[in-house]
Amino acid sequence: MPNSEKTNILMVCLGNICRSPLAEGILRKKIHDLNLPAEVSSCGTSAYHISEPADPRTIATARRHGINISSHRARQFQPTDFDRYDLIFAMDRSNYRTLLRYARDSKDEKKVKLIMDMVPHLAGTDVPDPYYSEDDGFEEVYHMLDQACEAIVSQLLLKKKSSTS
Ligand code: 4NP
Repeated sequence: MPNSEKTNILMVCLGNICRSPLAEGILRKKIHDLNLPAEVSSCGTSAYHISEPADPRTIATARRHGINISSHRARQFQPTDFDRYDLIFAMDRSNYRTLLRYARDSKDEKKVKLIMDMVPHLAGTDVPDPYYSEDDGFEEVYHMLDQACEAIVSQLLLKKKSSTS
């Protein structure tokens, strides 16, 4: 975790309409509930869905868990995001590799993480792309991302404690 005042976090998937907007919504709620000094956003590595809202099934899954992501609009990752964000979480290994190809130096590379590596028993696994799945695929993705985001806020809490002690 970086030591500057506020931690800027970016969630990244392929289309920015399923996994990463859900990850963004889950983490934003936890950051808000715990009043943590952090901000979160999301984007996709592809240009497929630029300016579109999240998939209706993603919006419905978030809503079932008390999270409103109706104002989300998809955008594509840009190399300048390495300047704006401290931590960049890829939803799967394919997007992880794409992000590393955009990295301009080792400082950029160190910011890129595979999100499920935050959860020890799920380390190395991909968050499955639910786009072509049935609705239960979205619920499974929610539960994986909720565990990862819980681990992220635990790290943010530790950082907050160490900066105030
Ligand atoms: P996401 O899911 O990367 O979780 O937003 C996808 C959404 C759309 C497509 C692929 C993945 N697509 O090929 O259009």
